[in-house]
Amino acid sequence: MASKANGSAGLAAAFILLATTSAGAQSGDANAGKIAFNNACRTCHTLKPGDARLGPDLASIIGRKAGTGQGYNYSSAMKDAGVTWDEATLDRFIADPQAVVPNNNMKPFNGISSQQDRANLIAFLKSGG
Ligand code: HEC
Repeated sequence: MASKANGSAGLAAAFILLATTSAGAQSGDANAGKIAFNNACRTCHTLKPGDARLGPDLASIIGRKAGTGQGYNYSSAMKDAGVTWDEATLDRFIADPQAVVPNNNMKPFNGISSQQDRANLIAFLKSGG
């Protein structure tokens, strides 16, 4: 009897876990996004204002005009892009940087094809780190 009761409780917990994971999946999960950022972006970017590395800082990137971060020498392609970074433009840029801003200098980075991974990354960028 006892082991049967434990089995059902475990099953219920598994259902709750699944429901929680898929609910987070729709809007983007900042914690998962942090891991993705560490893996795919942090060699070149941080979220500290003015902390330009190989790439510009991505602090307050939402609402920022492309090519206007502090203390970074952008390509003319990025300075002239005329893009303001919001969820939609970031999603397209992270999917395929050269399609959104042709000839930008982010070349070794070829984009992230998973829509879910991009949503997570954008949730992390919005959280400010
Ligand atoms: C190999 C280094 C490198 C990697 C990896 C990289 N980037 Fe970049 N990123 C750059 C460079 C360099 C620029 C500036 C491009 C230019 O001036 O043309 C840039 C520019 C950007 C911009 C435009 C910023 C602005 O101020 O307009 C965004 C947004 C961005 N990167 C997001 C990301 C994200 C998100 C990731 C990870 C998924 C990532 N990048 C991975 C090098 C990189």
